[in-house]
Amino acid sequence: MIAPSILSADFANLAREAAAVTGAEWLHVDVMDAHFVPNLTLGLPVVKSLLKATDIPLDCHLMIDDPDRWAIGYAEAGAHNVTVHVEAAADPVQLAKNLRAAGSKAGLSIKPGTPLEPYVEVLKHYDTLLVMSVEPGFGGQSFMVEVLDKVRTARRLVDTGHLRLLVEIDGGINSDTIAAAAEAGVDCFVAGSAVYDAEDPGRAVEALRALAAASSPHRG
Ligand code: DX5
Ligand code: ZN
Repeated sequence: MIAPSILSADFANLAREAAAVTGAEWLHVDVMDAHFVPNLTLGLPVVKSLLKATDIPLDCHLMIDDPDRWAIGYAEAGAHNVTVHVEAAADPVQLAKNLRAAGSKAGLSIKPGTPLEPYVEVLKHYDTLLVMSVEPGFGGQSFMVEVLDKVRTARRLVDTGHLRLLVEIDGGINSDTIAAAAEAGVDCFVAGSAVYDAEDPGRAVEALRALAAASSPHRG
């Protein structure tokens, strides 16, 4: 699955930018609050408008403080998946329950420096694990290959039935890095600049998907 990140799109033309990637499985929406990360993007009003403007399921990545309070609104609005950061959540298990009760999938994200092991039990309540492969806050950064160890661990936990979730990766994914991520066991690839800086974003999505498929281990 490919999830283009509109962080690299033209914010004054989001409907058009979504329409440019209709072949994508999800559309990744980066919500930043200038507190959890040193950048400010968009919030619930823009997501509500985007939901009316596209049929692509929205994958909302909340890089915000106090997601226990704010994430639910995105689920209630109709986002397909709402991802919160474990570093910011006070009660991630209750938060996942609330998100699912509101009708969305629940996603948990970990920053590059955050280990996976302490959160395996918590992740039993989640539908997606978003492994950050850059420090969250900005698009166009370089891929941190060392996070692939966490991807491999998560993949093993899923393949052995200990977890049931999609493994998602975010940051620095492009035609040079996607094969290694696919090989490590990623299911869903977020790509911002690699899609929206391309001349034809729709084609860039197809090209990335083909590269990922060619390197994905076969999993029943
Ligand atoms: C970074 C965001 C990413 C960003 C990725 O904090 O979470 O979703 O858009 O951009 P690229 O693909 O350019 O690294
Ligand atoms: Zn993101």
